[in-house]
Amino acid sequence: MAIDIQLFEQGVCRENTGCVKWDRRENVFGKADVIPMWIADMDFAAPACVTDAIIARTNQGAFGYCSEDPADKQAVIDWMKTRHGVELAADDILFSPGVIDSMVTAIGALGAEGDSIAMFTPVYGPFYGSTKKNNMVIKGCPMIQDGSRWSMDLNALEEIFKEGTKLLLLCNPHNPVGRIWTRDELEALVKLTRKYGVTIISDEIHADLEMPGYKNTSILNIDPDAIVFISATKTFNLAALKHSSVLIKNEEIREKVKAEFARRGNGGINMFGRLAQTAAYQGGAEWLDALLEYIAGTRDAAVEFLKKELPKVQVAELQGTYLMWLDFRYLGMEHEELKKLMIEKASVGFSSGTDFGELGQGFMRMNIATPRKNVMQALKQLKEALG
Ligand SMILES: Cc1ncc(COP(=O)(O)O)c(C=O)c1O
Repeated sequence: MAIDIQLFEQGVCRENTGCVKWDRRENVFGKADVIPMWIADMDFAAPACVTDAIIARTNQGAFGYCSEDPADKQAVIDWMKTRHGVELAADDILFSPGVIDSMVTAIGALGAEGDSIAMFTPVYGPFYGSTKKNNMVIKGCPMIQDGSRWSMDLNALEEIFKEGTKLLLLCNPHNPVGRIWTRDELEALVKLTRKYGVTIISDEIHADLEMPGYKNTSILNIDPDAIVFISATKTFNLAALKHSSVLIKNEEIREKVKAEFARRGNGGINMFGRLAQTAAYQGGAEWLDALLEYIAGTRDAAVEFLKKELPKVQVAELQGTYLMWLDFRYLGMEHEELKKLMIEKASVGFSSGTDFGELGQGFMRMNIATPRKNVMQALKQLKEALG
């Protein structure tokens, strides 16, 4: 059955549901009526196959401890094969509540206190936090900006590796600059990590969110020794159900990560998270294709508006994710002043660029996974605020 685009045009009202994005605006922005375009979830209902699975279990009524079912891993195997061309065996998959929990644990499994970890910056804030939680040292490798396109600086990365760094946190696709790395870029990266004996920990939570014309390459298709995190939560709007998968083909590395999960006491499975993920992977492909088309349309409308009305705002080319990275540095404002302008004058709640590190000064991240009318209204308010 074709997906009705009205599902995305109308979205769902999430106010007064304890929803972080809408109901915590006063706490986060000091203003309860900003248009919320920050935290990375969507104002759309998950596919019907997911809600049906949850309702069926709810009607049964027993919510005792649950374990995984072989169908859960098979759903991951099939999804990764058909959507991303990754071949997995059931043993390669571990379930965990969330990608960031997994990242903290995997770093702890492979590194020791005082070790350093490389990452391309600016990057999703918890990359820094996961490193610090393990008492390790952040080695930021600033990306190169060429107009609307951002790329890896492999020369700078090599200098970091020469100093002895043995772990690299990769964001694939990259949040916040919206890059889907090309296969060539990833191959060049892996050539370098192999040369210096560096292990790649790749966060692929946004991998399904590919804009038309772009295909994400899982690092596992280039480096079978990498650790990869995926999740249906970002793709199908299930973040509060807390369930994700860690993919590790290398047995020795997998055993270390498993032991670290056990040592940290992270165990058990969220029954609804498990059911939702399996249902989404088994039956959500058509919904996802319709979502991606809708988001690409919103991106195009936003880019056109900005080009015409605010041509000095530099917009990073959105290839993957639903998060647009906007460069306001032409205004020459202090970052705090820029933040204030966005909230108080434009009444828009963007993610502040500095949530992604110091290099985010002068930038804002705009989440466009909301009905298009909200995005266009936010841009209109932005234009009025910037005069
Ligand atoms: C790159 C990236 N990794 C991880 C997460 C969060 O994942 P989880 O909720 O599974 O910890 C996000 C959420 O925005 C993200 O953008």
